[in-house]
This record gives sequence, C-alpha cells and structure tokens, in this order.
Amino acid sequence: MQKNLLRLYPQPSETTALTGLYLAHQIHKLGTTELPFVYANFLSSLDGRIALEDVSQSTTYIPKHLTTASDFRLFMELHAQADCLITHGGYMRALSEGRLGNILQIKDKALIEWRLNNDLKAQPAVIIASASLDFPMHDSLQEHAQTVYIATGRSADPDRIGYWHDLGFPILIAGDDRTVHGAPLIHELQGLGYKNIYLIAGPQILDTMIREKQLSRLYLTITHQLIGGKDFRTLLTGSVLGPEGDLKLKSMYYDPHSPPGSGQCFMQFSLEGPANTKHEAAT
Ligand SMILES: NC(=O)c1ccc[n+]([C@@H]2O[C@H](COP(=O)([O-])OP(=O)(O)OC[C@H]3O[C@@H](n4cnc5c(N)ncnc54)[C@H](OP(=O)(O)O)[C@@H]3O)[C@@H](O)[C@H]2O)c1
Repeated sequence: MQKNLLRLYPQPSETTALTGLYLAHQIHKLGTTELPFVYANFLSSLDGRIALEDVSQSTTYIPKHLTTASDFRLFMELHAQADCLITHGGYMRALSEGRLGNILQIKDKALIEWRLNNDLKAQPAVIIASASLDFPMHDSLQEHAQTVYIATGRSADPDRIGYWHDLGFPILIAGDDRTVHGAPLIHELQGLGYKNIYLIAGPQILDTMIREKQLSRLYLTITHQLIGGKDFRTLLTGSVLGPEGDLKLKSMYYDPHSPPGSGQCFMQFSLEGPANTKHEAAT
C-alpha cells in the first residue's frame, strides 16, 4: 500500500506519496564542478537526541524506536542522488564490529536504475574522514568498485598516512590539525570533480561543515518522541554558532502513523552563506 504524507509547508497543504518525495528534489542536478552541493540528513527526537550513549560500554547508539522505514526510505533517496558520500573512521569501526548496518551502498534495484538513468555511477565514491586513521576498510567498497579516499588533517600520524598510502588509498589533507575541516575538504572534492556530496557522518563533521559554511541543505526528521537519557548526542559538538546557524525552512511533511503512537515530521532547511547563494537562486 502506498504511504502518504501531509505537506504542512509550503502552503497549501496537500497529501503526497512518500516514495519519490526526495528524488523529486533533483539534488543530483544542483551541484556543479565550480560549486558542489553539500547536503546532510539527520534524525532527531523532539528533545534533540540523535543518539544515546552507553557509558559503561563507551559506545553510542540510535534508539531503535526512533527509526522508521519511512525515514530510511527518504535517507536512501538522498543517498541515491549523490556522486560522493562523506563518512568517517568511527562508522568504519562500528560497521566492522556489527554495531551498525552497512549504508555505504544503495541496494534497492530501482534506485540503482534511477542513478544509471541519471548519469550517475551505480554506487557513489566514499570519503572516509578520520583523525586517528585507525579503522578497518570494509570489503563491500571494493566489491562494488567504489572509489575511496581517506581524508585527514595535516598533523595526523605520518605512519598511519603511510599505511593507507601503501595500500593504494589516496589521502586528502583537509586542515592543519589532526581533524578534517569542512572548507578544505569540500575544496579538495570540488577539485576531484564531485558535485553532489552527501554527508552521512555524525555531529562532529556536521559541526565543521556548518561552521565553515559548506552545507547547502539540511534534511531533518524529527520524531514526536521525548527520549530523555542523561548521556546523549545532539546535532552539533562545537561552541555557540553565529548567523551560520540560521536555517530557513523549505518544506515540512507530516507522517502521523510512524513511529507508532507519536508520528514525525520530515523537514528540509537551507542554510545562508556564500556556498549556497547560487543554489538557492536556482531552486
Ligand atoms: N540520528 C542521526 O541522524 C545520526 C546521524 C549520524 C550519527 N548518529 C549517531 O550519533 C552518534 C555519534 O555519531 P558518530 O559516531 O557518527 O560521529 P562523531 O561522534 O561525530 O565522529 C566519530 C568519529 O568520526 C571521525 N571524525 C568525526 N569528525 C571528524 C573530523 N572533523 N575529522 C576527522 N575525523 C572525524 C573520528 O574518527 P577517528 O577516531 O577515526 O579519528 C571520530 O571518532 C553515533 O551513535 C551515530 O550512530 C545519528
């Protein structure tokens, strides 16, 4: 049965099919070689939790009841429009330990076909950002013939840089300390010809992308749940933001049926800043 959402903004309100909702945003056409389009998608509870921390195990996790099939479908529609994904060393560790599922590839045959029909490779390139450079590579990347780059800071351990270099992985230096910074990373990716860059990383990379005005669009799903918990992660990690933290709502869709007993809103925000003025003019 087709799943429908209610569009609350822009007005007038109307019923819309979930499937195809984010494909219709045509993100794959928004970036250019001069000005890549960088976008991210996060899922949060009403009290701002994107993950909880299990202090005894020193791990974080996304509570199962926060996630829904609808949110995952829209996440994958965004994934399908990217020529490049940005993930990180923490995700590669979690993947190899089985703590998280594999989102490095698109598995839905119809979405792969959609990519091929829209001049995209079957699978996107993957950037792995890491300061420690201490993570395992995942076999699925080679199995799907994906281009892989490792991004790190200039002060990262030279032995670890050498290790990955010797294995044949190109290294992108994006920042002067150990961590990856948003502006130099996007500059490097622009130089490599990537146009539509999807951030599937966590709050630390979202923070540097927003702070350095590299993010053009934030998709945010808010489930109407209060999660609580004393140890949690929220969207950002850094100090207080200025106007770079101001977002404009572009659309909002309401799903009253999932998660069961609450519901959720799917929102799309644009960000102010030099990196997206042109994109906004085009949409
Ligand atoms: N609800 C949601 O939408 C959502 C979205 C994303 C994540 N999450 C969850 O939130 C929790 C925390 O997120 P996370 O672990 O994905 O991300 P994170 O805490 O932001 O980062 C984890 C790792 O990523 C690498 N990293 C991050 N920023 C970097 C930078 N600027 N430069 C170089 N390396 C960087 C580091 O790896 P190295 O140690 O290798 O240097 C770091 O240990 C997790 O439970 C995750 O599942 C939820």
